[in-house]
Amino acid sequence: MNDNTAIINEIRSLLSGRTPKALVRSFGCQLNVSDGEKIKGLLGTAGYSFTEDEREADLIILNTCAVRESAEDRVFGIIGSMKKLKEINPSLIIGVSGCMTAQDHNAQRIKKSYPHVSFVMGTSAISSLPSLLLESLKGVKFSADTSEYDDFSQSVPQIRDSGFKASVPIMFGCNNFCTYCIVPYVRGRERSRRSDDIIREVRELVDGGYKEIMLLGQNVNSYGSGSENEISFPQLLRKLNEIEGDFIIRFMSSHPKDASQELIDAVFDCDKVERHLHLPLQSGSSSVLSRMNRIYTAEKYLETVERIRSRCPDFSLTTDIIVGFPNETEEEFNATLDIIRRVKYDNIYSFIYSKRSGTKAAVIDDFVSEEVKGRRMRELLEVQRGISSENYKRFLGRKMRVLVDEESKKRPGYLTGKSSEFIIVEFEGDASLIGQFVEVEITGSMNWAVKGKLI
Ligand code: 5AD
Ligand code: SF4
Repeated sequence: MNDNTAIINEIRSLLSGRTPKALVRSFGCQLNVSDGEKIKGLLGTAGYSFTEDEREADLIILNTCAVRESAEDRVFGIIGSMKKLKEINPSLIIGVSGCMTAQDHNAQRIKKSYPHVSFVMGTSAISSLPSLLLESLKGVKFSADTSEYDDFSQSVPQIRDSGFKASVPIMFGCNNFCTYCIVPYVRGRERSRRSDDIIREVRELVDGGYKEIMLLGQNVNSYGSGSENEISFPQLLRKLNEIEGDFIIRFMSSHPKDASQELIDAVFDCDKVERHLHLPLQSGSSSVLSRMNRIYTAEKYLETVERIRSRCPDFSLTTDIIVGFPNETEEEFNATLDIIRRVKYDNIYSFIYSKRSGTKAAVIDDFVSEEVKGRRMRELLEVQRGISSENYKRFLGRKMRVLVDEESKKRPGYLTGKSSEFIIVEFEGDASLIGQFVEVEITGSMNWAVKGKLI
């Protein structure tokens, strides 16, 4: 950050007392949202305020996602539509950051086809935002920094979107190279933050009144691997659990191949760690899992589930599923349905396979039609709806501790929050309760949430 002080001072003097408005839009996963908070932090230090209205913005940064083609198409559409804004306000600065920019073909396409974009900033280059911004303010038509140096150990200031829920990245990048996934190419190899830094950050957040700490990483279970002096993820959970205060700990995501007994024990031993595990299955067929390079088989995955459920028979599990991986047969798809029925997830996040150029799966000739993939997706969702409805009945009559998130968008006068099991809970209450823990007695259930009464 020290390197940035002079640049930030120069930006401030260029702005000469004005407080221009910035709009930062993050797409995709929570790690990207966390990067967006760092982008806002740097802009805040440079003298910017924030707006959600693109017509009044002096600076717009699109913090992009590359996991699926649909996300990329959406962003290209938005970038295209910003040409008009730039015509109305020629001093508008538009920057594109995030995973899309880390792919050379995308960075080139932005430069060539969208001349109203002022700069492109890679996922590892957030701390170079001040110098990119300064160049744009000085009138440089196009700048780019997509270099791969690590800036995660530096303390980039952060303006957090929430005053009670905080995301804390504990590691960056991924070494797993699942054959469908672009992440290792756009986020680089796995790097873990120092545990001392993480513990200090969490302590400060808790002292500052944060109630939920979400630890983030592409595979939190391999936290610390590769650095001899580092503690393991379960050990980190135990240390964070010792921090005094009324708060909860969640984490995402866990690769099933690394979901060890040590991890399961830590989840059950630590009272602040919530009773929920997101364990991405991707496919219930061992042959598809092998083609995906997921390292585990369906049987091994079920053994892990069994180890968890033997401690707590209705322990809450959620998962990610990819439908229509190249040449997925009907039998292989049915194996996924089969596991879903056996595990009885509380929720699944399902995606139709999207070809990502540069990945191993992208070169496979795929003989499954889009129509078949769509039909399988609908079938999967239908099966899961039935399971969620049944599952959620188990909460009827129970008392749940809920961290209140927001006012219900569907029902005025009602609030929603999440239980320890990561279940949405809806109940009547005053908006002053947002950001607090409340006790709710569950009186009804749906297939996406439960409802209840404040105690
Ligand atoms: N196509 C579809 N879904 C994907 N995911 C990752 N890559 C792809 C892809 N190419 C899904 C996986 C992952 C989640 C974050 O996104 O299910 O767990
Ligand atoms: Fe992608 Fe696999 Fe790494 Fe997850 S573990 S980020 S799916 S390569």
